[in-house]
Amino acid sequence: MEKFERLDKIISTQTSYSRKDIKKLCRSGDIYVNGQVCRNSDAKVDPQNTEIIVCGEKIEYKRYVYYMMNKPKGVLSASNDKNAPTVIDLVPENLYRKNLFPAGRLDKDTTGLLIITDDGDFAHRMLSPNKKVYKHYIATVDKELDESVKSEFENGIVLSDGTVCQKAFFEKIGPCVARVQICEGKFHQVKKMFSACSYIVEELRRVQIGSLKLDENLQEGQTRELTENEKLLIFDTKND
Ligand code: URA
Repeated sequence: MEKFERLDKIISTQTSYSRKDIKKLCRSGDIYVNGQVCRNSDAKVDPQNTEIIVCGEKIEYKRYVYYMMNKPKGVLSASNDKNAPTVIDLVPENLYRKNLFPAGRLDKDTTGLLIITDDGDFAHRMLSPNKKVYKHYIATVDKELDESVKSEFENGIVLSDGTVCQKAFFEKIGPCVARVQICEGKFHQVKKMFSACSYIVEELRRVQIGSLKLDENLQEGQTRELTENEKLLIFDTKND
């Protein structure tokens, strides 16, 4: 990968400024590169080794960012939507960057662990069923769970449209509550799997991805950066 990149590209991916804004800020002398005013927004610099200050604020360059959100009910897992608030709307201003997206979708009424990033390869690796990164959900259903559901989930549920799901893990943890692990991300998958066994999911919460658990101190709607170790935990697939 080329080491040097255009100044406007660097600033625009790290902040909410557009390239047009950056051009204007360069003209007005509000951008400093290694201590010198830079009036040229297409100047090429090495982002890893250059101090860039925009309107008095130093750019802490990061190629990509990785966040954990505790998704509340009522928001869409999308980058933008005309009619409803999205998870990206909830990202606080100091963490916001232009290319953020949710890595995988949770339904509007599903809560819990959501990874938000601007790294497409990372998201693909986490979501691809072949990588066997299991997503753990706590599902509350409408009636007492029969013991037979476990083997149905473990043998591969066939959805009402004939789609065969991969083996899933199932643990009954309350009369109407189960912990379910799946490594695929089909649309409404957990709800459809229960529906195939004649249950309706009333509450669904994602609590873990790979070995990364939802931080219990993170309030619903809050977002924070993942640590380097937490990023690795996602791909630690020992399954517990
Ligand atoms: N399965 C569902 O049915 N819904 C979700 O939000 C996630 C998994």
